[in-house]
Amino acid sequence: QVLKLGDRYGRVATDLRVSLTDRCNLRCSYCMPAEGLDWLPQDETLTDDELVRLIRIGVERLGIQELRFTGGEPLVRRGLPDLVRRVREIDAGIDMSMTTNALGLARTAQALADAGLNRVNVSLDTVRADTFHAITRRDRLDDVIAGLAAAEAAGLGPVKVNAVLMRGLNDDQAPELLRWCLDRGYELRFIEQMPLDAQHGWQRDGMVTADEIFAHLEREFTLTPASEPRGSAPAELFVVDGGPATVGVIASVTRPFCGDCDRVRLTADGQIRNCLFARHESDLRAALRDGTSDADIAERWVTAVAGKAAGHGIDDEGFLQPDRPMSAIGG
Ligand code: GTP
Ligand code: 5AD
Ligand code: SF4
Repeated sequence: QVLKLGDRYGRVATDLRVSLTDRCNLRCSYCMPAEGLDWLPQDETLTDDELVRLIRIGVERLGIQELRFTGGEPLVRRGLPDLVRRVREIDAGIDMSMTTNALGLARTAQALADAGLNRVNVSLDTVRADTFHAITRRDRLDDVIAGLAAAEAAGLGPVKVNAVLMRGLNDDQAPELLRWCLDRGYELRFIEQMPLDAQHGWQRDGMVTADEIFAHLEREFTLTPASEPRGSAPAELFVVDGGPATVGVIASVTRPFCGDCDRVRLTADGQIRNCLFARHESDLRAALRDGTSDADIAERWVTAVAGKAAGHGIDDEGFLQPDRPMSAIGG
């Protein structure tokens, strides 16, 4: 390795989050409108060969140490176990995980584990069927629960569960969801809703804050800050009722963690994106397709990350929600 992905603020990106598709089989209201979105055309989406090449450049030349596949919904990409296997061949030791809604995971968890995937994080905001439908606009709660169990059984753990709370929809269900996860050994993390919905309906006062999440949980549980260092992780961990189980809170809005960010994102159409909230992207797809060498692609990637902004700026005057919604960035 000759280069690293550093920025003006002394941060170094070592965690690559790769969006495999912008498509999804759910329609979570904090992400997408009911009718879905205009998906990327197939020819603008990176092929497996292109993805493998970029990931190899990241790992072998730029110091990437962690990989996470995201979407849209990464499981809707065809042939995912093959892609995972090819990425695993690049580096036998790299931490490779996936963030998924778990639909269809019951069928593919074992193949993914066999191909070399280490872990999954599953998005699940409620364990009530009616609330699940109200949030995702689909009746698929049972599939998600089966997917979670299959992931655990396939060794894709420790399985983490990500939950977004929304006022009037599921904010009163936080203790119930935590109890459910504790019973099954899943590590639950509550996420503050971010202004990344395609409909641009996010409002600061509508968002359930970390403080409110604690208030809900502390009615039924005793929480104490976990002692292990947080590092660059978005989640702050709390020990539940004396442990050993923990619950996480990802307070992107009220307690930003941008100063310790070590992440860089690759969109499904081959753009380097330094932040969920970046106003600028750097195109690597054209370089992949016009015969640019690996060394020159690596240089372009370095230049792209060097321009990373200090933080998400949600609290800045004149903050503008990014043009791309969560589903096209990958969370
Ligand atoms: P672990 O390695 O398992 O801890 O993964 P993770 O928590 O980094 O990944 P995951 O995909 O499960 O993300 C959980 C939540 O954190 C999602 O809502 C992400 O959008 C959010 N998140 C991840 N990275 C960032 C980030 O750089 N900035 C902000 N604001 N949120 C992030
Ligand atoms: N704010 C916060 N988290 C979100 N997610 C999707 N949209 C939003 C949003 N607007 C979460 C999903 C998933 C993760 C990748 O991001 O629930 O767990
Ligand atoms: Fe799909 Fe994830 Fe968006 Fe829900 S949040 S619609 S699961 S991409």
